[in-house]
Amino acid sequence: MPIPPKPPSRPERVSLWRYMRLFRADILSAQPAKLYRAWMAEFRTPFFRSYLANDPALVRRVLKERPDDFPKSDRIGAGLRPLLGESVFLTNGATWKRQRRIIDPAFEGGRLRDTFPAMWAAGEAAVARLGEVGGSGPFDVEPETSHAAADVIFRTLFSIPIEHETARQVFEAFRAHQRTQPILNLAAFLRGPRWMPRFFRRQTKSTARDIRALITRLTADRMAQITAGTAPDDLATKIMTTADPQTGDRFDTAEMVDQVAIFFLAGHETSASALAWTLYLMALYPEWQEKVAEEARALDGGCDFKVMSQLKISRDVFREALRLYPPVPMMVRETCQAEQMRDRVAPKGSQVVLSPWHLHRHTRLWDNPDGFDPARWATENGKTCQRDAYIPFSAGPRVCTGAGFAMVEGPLLLSMLVRRYRLRPVEGRAPVPVAHLTVRSRDGIWLTLEARDD
Ligand code: HEM
Repeated sequence: MPIPPKPPSRPERVSLWRYMRLFRADILSAQPAKLYRAWMAEFRTPFFRSYLANDPALVRRVLKERPDDFPKSDRIGAGLRPLLGESVFLTNGATWKRQRRIIDPAFEGGRLRDTFPAMWAAGEAAVARLGEVGGSGPFDVEPETSHAAADVIFRTLFSIPIEHETARQVFEAFRAHQRTQPILNLAAFLRGPRWMPRFFRRQTKSTARDIRALITRLTADRMAQITAGTAPDDLATKIMTTADPQTGDRFDTAEMVDQVAIFFLAGHETSASALAWTLYLMALYPEWQEKVAEEARALDGGCDFKVMSQLKISRDVFREALRLYPPVPMMVRETCQAEQMRDRVAPKGSQVVLSPWHLHRHTRLWDNPDGFDPARWATENGKTCQRDAYIPFSAGPRVCTGAGFAMVEGPLLLSMLVRRYRLRPVEGRAPVPVAHLTVRSRDGIWLTLEARDD
């Protein structure tokens, strides 16, 4: 059985300078192999201390037990603020809590049923597009899954497909923006002294402005439709008409623009990365691909939310792909006071890094940590680890708002695609995982496809 691609680790001892250079190139291969078996690692630099926490008890404390004592640092926000403003992804404290009170109801279970037809339509469009792209030989699937995930977001949020003039412009503007400013802001992990100035490239600001202008138009139009009583019943309408149960106030257009920017960003890059890796794993493990294809016959009954309860293998496969290739590989928090971290005391202002990437492959927690085994979720070890060592969507009150949404979208699109096509890897083009904004492949994820006859 082949092992799914894993990036090389760096040598055990390197200078800080070398580490920073490696880090800039790729966060994953810049780390030593021992992080896959350590419970905690302390990094001391001249400017700050950083603690990577793999101990499930520490992860629980930071995310679930005392999240208010481990806020997101302003530095993470620094690179993102021109684009995201005061979005829920960046805020802390009372502002963040209020935003979640308004946003969360839009993503509750019942609403997922309502957005299902829009997801289904995006899935059908993706099946058609992939047939065209894959018809003429090997192709890189990453741009295709990006396209599909962006389509899902526009259809569910604003009831428009990606072909819509404005949707297409936003999608393209985001791509241009990412070229100027990698969103996983490296400066946030490797920070310098506080006095170090922080520059945004002029182009970063200008692409952020373009995106925000487009989103502002969509949001203002929607506000007008809500006022006129003609708004479609989608996620944007739901969020913009939900009142904060504590204060009764709603998002105004400007606040909504910040939230739409993060829904688009957090919701499409991540899902695109997850789906691309899942499709690659399907190509690598044909026996699992056939099981997913067989199960996917349930889709032949047409668009009905109930079908999701039948796509169990697809869900386990997608979950396993999120374990091996968590789209958000690391998250950073800051200590508000001195904290006992196992046998060390982290001073106030230290960084705490939670690493789904390492936790999900931890050799002292998981059976067969680097192997692909979707059947693991039914085993004792799989169940324990799912509870204690599996955080692709983070956990606790700050858990991804779109987690339930993504767990419908991923297995659904996977099943729809595998129902129609047989995927194969391309000889000599095994992908190498690297962390950009999300976990991507260094040179694309190459596949071939062939239509299934039946
Ligand atoms: C496979 C797909 C996805 C993965 C793996 C994922 C993962 C994550 C993770 C790990 C976080 C926490 C980041 C941190 O605390 O630093 C997060 C936050 C967030 N995600 Fe997702 N996400 C996915 C899809 C989505 C979708 C589809 C949406 C919306 C439509 C979404 C919206 C958000 C938002 C708004 C936050 C910020 C929550 C907060 O800070 O309170 N995500 N996501």
